[in-house]
Amino acid sequence: MPSPNEILAELKKVRYPGFTRDVVSFGVIKDIEVAYSGVTVSLTAISAKQEVIDKIVADVKATVAAMPGVPSVNVTVEAPPQAAARAPSATAQRRAIPGVKHIVAVASGKGGVGKSTVAVNLALAMRALGWRVGLMDADVYGPSVAMMVGVDKAVSLTPERRMIPLERFGIRYISMALFINDETAVIWRGPMVTKLETEFLFNVEWGELDCLVLDLPPGTGDAQLTITQRVELAGGVIVTTPQEIALLDVKRGVAMFDEVHVPVLGVVENMSYYLCRKCNHRHDIFSHGGGSRLAESLHVPFLGEIPLLRELREGGDKAQPIVAANPSHPVSEAFKSIATRVIEQLDQPKH
Ligand SMILES: Nc1ncnc2c1ncn2[C@@H]1O[C@H](COP(=O)(O)OP(=O)(O)O)[C@@H](O)[C@H]1O
Ligand SMILES: [Mg+2]
Repeated sequence: MPSPNEILAELKKVRYPGFTRDVVSFGVIKDIEVAYSGVTVSLTAISAKQEVIDKIVADVKATVAAMPGVPSVNVTVEAPPQAAARAPSATAQRRAIPGVKHIVAVASGKGGVGKSTVAVNLALAMRALGWRVGLMDADVYGPSVAMMVGVDKAVSLTPERRMIPLERFGIRYISMALFINDETAVIWRGPMVTKLETEFLFNVEWGELDCLVLDLPPGTGDAQLTITQRVELAGGVIVTTPQEIALLDVKRGVAMFDEVHVPVLGVVENMSYYLCRKCNHRHDIFSHGGGSRLAESLHVPFLGEIPLLRELREGGDKAQPIVAANPSHPVSEAFKSIATRVIEQLDQPKH
C-alpha cells in the first residue's frame, strides 16, 4: 500500500480541469487516509461547477486506483459548492490589503486589446467620481502603465522598507517593473513572478484607498489565476475587442473568475467602433454588439464600449490619458459611465 505522501505525489499529475496547474497545487486535496481496506481522499470543492467537481473526483479516483497495492479508493468532497467560497483552501492564502476597501482586477484573454488603456482610464474615471484610487501594474513583461501615466521614476521606501507609491493625476501607482533592471529581470523570469508579485502587492504603503485597480498580465491561465487566488478581489473586469476570437477569450476570463468565486463586474468592449474625428461619425468596423450579446449570454454585466480613437493611443504614448487630459471628451464620459457601473456594484453591502 502506498503512503499518503506517495499518493499526494501521484496526484500532482492530475490537472485541474481547464488549467495546466495540478489539483494539489490548487489546494483541492484536503486529506489522504490510508487504511487496510483502502484509500480515502478528501477534496475541498473550490469550484462552483458540478461538472468540474465530478471530473476531479473521477480523475483522482482513477489515478489512485492505478497505483500498485491499492485495493479500493473512496473520494469524498467536503464542502458543498455554495459554501465553497468560504472553504479554507480556497481562501486560506487570500489576503486583503489593509486600508484598501476594494480590489478590482482588469483582465483580458490576450495582449493588445487595450487592457492597460482601460485599467488606467477606469482608475482615473473612478478618481473623477471622487474615489481614492490606486493602480498596480501587474503585467511585469509588458509594463505599459508606467508610460501611460508617466511615472517612471525611483520609488522611495518608508523606514519599515515599505514602498511608497508614486502619484500622478490624483491616483497612486506602483509597478514591480519599476524595480526590475536588466540584471534582475533574469532572476524574475519564470513562474515565481506571480508569486513574488502578490507578495509585492502587500508591501506597498497604499494608505487609505476606496479601490485598487490591478492591471493583470494578459491571458487567463495559471499566472493570472495565482493572483486571483491570493488577493481578496472584489471583482474582475474583462476587456475585449469585437472580433469573434476575442469573444472566446471572454468566456475563458469569466470561467477563470468563476473558478475562484470572484464576481465578474462586467465586460468592456474596446476598439468597438471607429469614431471619425472629421465627421464625428461612428463607423462599425467589426460586427457590432458582440460584447453586449456575449455578456448577456454569460450572465455578466456589459459595462460599455470604447471606440477606436487616435487620441486614446496618443494619450497613452504621451502620458496624457484621455480621462485626465480631456475629461469632457465623449470617450472620457464613456469611461466614467463604466466606472459608475463598477462602483455601483462595489458599493453593494457585503452579505
Ligand atoms: N480604443 C483605442 N483606440 C486607439 N488605440 C487604442 C485603444 N485602446 C488601446 N489602444 C492602443 O493599443 C495599444 C495596446 O493597448 P494596451 O492598453 O497597451 O493593451 P494591453 O494592455 O491589452 O496589451 C496601445 O498602443 C494603446 O494606446
Ligand atoms: Mg498592458
